[in-house]
Amino acid sequence: MLSVLCATSLVTLANEHKLNPATGLVDATGHNMVAAHCTACHSAKLISQNQMSRERWLETIRWMQSTQKLWPLGEAEPVILDYLTTWYGPKIQSRRAPIPAHLMPQGSD
Ligand code: HEC
Repeated sequence: MLSVLCATSLVTLANEHKLNPATGLVDATGHNMVAAHCTACHSAKLISQNQMSRERWLETIRWMQSTQKLWPLGEAEPVILDYLTTWYGPKIQSRRAPIPAHLMPQGSD
């Protein structure tokens, strides 16, 4: 499934940010909403072991809503998505390095 794990960046994250002792998730804005809505059925580790874009997090939420009886999140949803994308978002930016000049198309001369 979606359990792509990058241990190195998780360790870095844990060192740089305070983790909530109860959930093991980063203690920051939105944490309490996530704790309230997202740890009732499964461990918070399912969250912290993932790194997804906002779109993928939303898909995961929709999947749980349609198949796992997750309730509608209402006004908490954007707060939860902000939190998840900030702290458990993709670590590697999709921006690629510039194409080296010698690989660029040549002029017509
Ligand atoms: C009503 C129960 C329920 C709630 C509440 C719930 N989930 Fe889940 N979630 C599940 C179930 C069931 C699974 C599948 C567990 C498994 O595969 O072992 C799951 C799986 C996941 C996965 C792993 C998906 C994958 O493809 O590997 C993630 C990430 C996740 N949930 C995040 C969340 C987040 C974020 C929230 C809060 C918005 C949340 N869950 C709230 C039931 C729930």
